[in-house]
Amino acid sequence: MSEPKKVSRRQFLNYTLTGLGGFMAAGMMAPMVRFAIDPVFKPAAAGDFHSVADVKEVTNEPQRFEWEVEQVDAWYESTIQKTAWVYRKEDDEIIALSPICTHLGCTVDWASNEEYPKQFFCPCHGGRYTKDGVNVPGTPPTAPLPVFETKVEEGMLYLGEEIAR
Ligand code: FES
Repeated sequence: MSEPKKVSRRQFLNYTLTGLGGFMAAGMMAPMVRFAIDPVFKPAAAGDFHSVADVKEVTNEPQRFEWEVEQVDAWYESTIQKTAWVYRKEDDEIIALSPICTHLGCTVDWASNEEYPKQFFCPCHGGRYTKDGVNVPGTPPTAPLPVFETKVEEGMLYLGEEIAR
C-alpha cells in the first residue's frame, strides 16, 4: 500500500493562492464577458404583441395600420415604424399582411392599380397579390406576402411576429 503524499507548506500556499487568484479573476471577468456577449444572445422579442388599432376599425376592406416597435441591435436601440394591411375575412377572421413585396422589397398598395382594383399592387415591377396576400402567377413575386400573428384583447387588435409563408 502506498503512503499518502505529503503536501509541503509551500505547495499548500501555492495551490491555495493560485485557486483564490483564479476565483477572483473569474469573478472580475464574468461581468465583462456577460456585457460583451449579452446583447448577442438576448432572445429576440419573440412573442411580443403590439397594440395596433381598435378592432372596430377593422373592416372587410384592407386598411393600412401603423405602429412603432423598440428595436435593439446589439447595443443600438431604435424605434422603427411597422405597417400592415389589415382586414376582416368573411368568416370574421382578421388578417394582417406585411406590405413588403416579396420580389425586391418595395411597398405594396391595396387597389392602387385601376386594372386590378381587388388586388395588392407593387409599383416597382408590377407585382400583384390577391386579397389574401398570395402572389399572382406571372408577376415578379414568387412568394406570398408574410402575415403577422394577430390577437384581440379587450377590443384592441394586437399584432405580433411576421411569418413568411
Ligand atoms: S419589388 Fe415588388 S414587384 Fe419587384
